Amino acid sequence: MRRWGIELASSSTVNLTTRPDAGRRFLLVRLITLVLLGLVSWPIPYLFSDYWGVVWALALAPLVITTRSGSVTAEMGTLLIVWWAFGDRVSASPAIYYCPLAAALSVWLTHDLGSRAASLLSTAVIGAWICRSIDHGVPVNLTGVAFLGCSALTMLVHAATSLRRPFAPVRSVDVIAASHTGNTLHLVSRFAAELIEAGVQVRIHRFFDPTCFTPALDGDALVVAFPMIGWKPPWPLDHYLRTNLPAGKGKPAFLLSTCAGGPENGFVLPWLWLWLKGYRVMGRLWVIYPVNVATFRIGPARLWRWLDSLLPRESEMEITARSARSFAAGKTAGFPLVVWPFPLVLIGWLLDNRWIDPLLYRPYAWRKRCTNCGLCVETCPMGRLHRGDPVPVAAGECELCMRCVNLCPQNALHLFCWTEYGQPYRPKWPELAAVREDVLHRSTKTG
Ligand SMILES: Cc1cc2nc3c(=O)[nH]c(=O)nc-3n(C[C@H](O)[C@H](O)[C@H](O)COP(=O)(O)O)c2cc1C
Ligand code: SF4
Ligand code: SF4
Repeated sequence: MRRWGIELASSSTVNLTTRPDAGRRFLLVRLITLVLLGLVSWPIPYLFSDYWGVVWALALAPLVITTRSGSVTAEMGTLLIVWWAFGDRVSASPAIYYCPLAAALSVWLTHDLGSRAASLLSTAVIGAWICRSIDHGVPVNLTGVAFLGCSALTMLVHAATSLRRPFAPVRSVDVIAASHTGNTLHLVSRFAAELIEAGVQVRIHRFFDPTCFTPALDGDALVVAFPMIGWKPPWPLDHYLRTNLPAGKGKPAFLLSTCAGGPENGFVLPWLWLWLKGYRVMGRLWVIYPVNVATFRIGPARLWRWLDSLLPRESEMEITARSARSFAAGKTAGFPLVVWPFPLVLIGWLLDNRWIDPLLYRPYAWRKRCTNCGLCVETCPMGRLHRGDPVPVAAGECELCMRCVNLCPQNALHLFCWTEYGQPYRPKWPELAAVREDVLHRSTKTG
């Protein structure tokens, strides 16, 4: 099925009407875990204060069983590593160590159930943990305050999302889709195909840069899709959501992202901007896709082609389909927002923003290889690359999308000192990476 220039993979989508709802099937496991979590909030921190890493890992088990999601396992796994780096700085109370873990577990176990009673129970469990943590000793340092503060935020967002009444089924959805090498657009096409199956009208608006993005968002719900770039959305999209996105007037919204490893706190800001604009965000979803950063793709090209062929996993596509169905039905969908007390997003902001990018990442074309075909010039979403003789030249803003590096057919274009040593990512869905709108967009900008 071909719509809006996007091939919708409807033939390979999962028909959920014939499948048992995975969330409901594990209802008992989820509820038992929640009750246990409530009961153990007093003794566990003290009994196991020296083994919090082990407890943390064990606590993952019910989550992995109930969600059966590689994304969930990867997100919690990444966070476990970061936790090791920061956890021992919480000097006030061992109970505070476990507070973000308890909060994450509780909200994750109940978010997609669509049951207000279960959500109330999980909110109560987190509330109890926070109160008892404070009882055990007021945090005396920044990390302690961050651990408790982020747990409280997780709880509040969860309560605001899932304790309120669900929406009426959605009839039409606008999707704002930023995608540099096509991965995110592939995920969008799977999500959209499922919405269409559910009878929802979908309009996809490709996002390039905020200066020429003025879509009519008149559907009754919004989906914002983006690749994770430095543990956050690409900066032009962030700018658009913060400044130009029209008011939501209570509409439901959903956040969709592709990542190569994990988003950490990458959903916090878009969630916040949508909330401030009056949208009610019903959930988020991220799926692991091939990494498109040549800097990290070191080693033989064949190895990377093989790794790329493994992603995305079909089980994640099932979760995508299920999330689309829940969203179409007006319910909470996908994953909950978990606010983690870790500052990776700040590092992302320092390394990638509109001021630093033109200075730190300088594209150049290698004369020996470049045929001056002009493809990089046509596909640069920021209009930074210009026709030159004998090779293109760079001037202007950059959003670190790496399209120029990944799409150059001669492997001639590189970001100085960043991408020379790696394999470029040859998009798995080239028709989604460089669709005609790119060229149209470029001619509108320059003309
Ligand atoms: C500059 C840059 C930074 C990235 N940072 C992250 C990151 O922080 N976390 C992550 O999981 N993936 C990261 N990625 C990988 C992309 O999010 C991933 O490959 C995504 O699927 C690309 O989607 P697209 O093809 O729609 O652009 C980064 C990619 C680029 C180019
Ligand atoms: S895409 Fe590659 S070969 Fe074509 S002009 Fe750009 S650098 Fe040269
Ligand atoms: S110069 Fe390259 S990395 Fe920068 S915005 Fe253009 S295509 Fe993307």
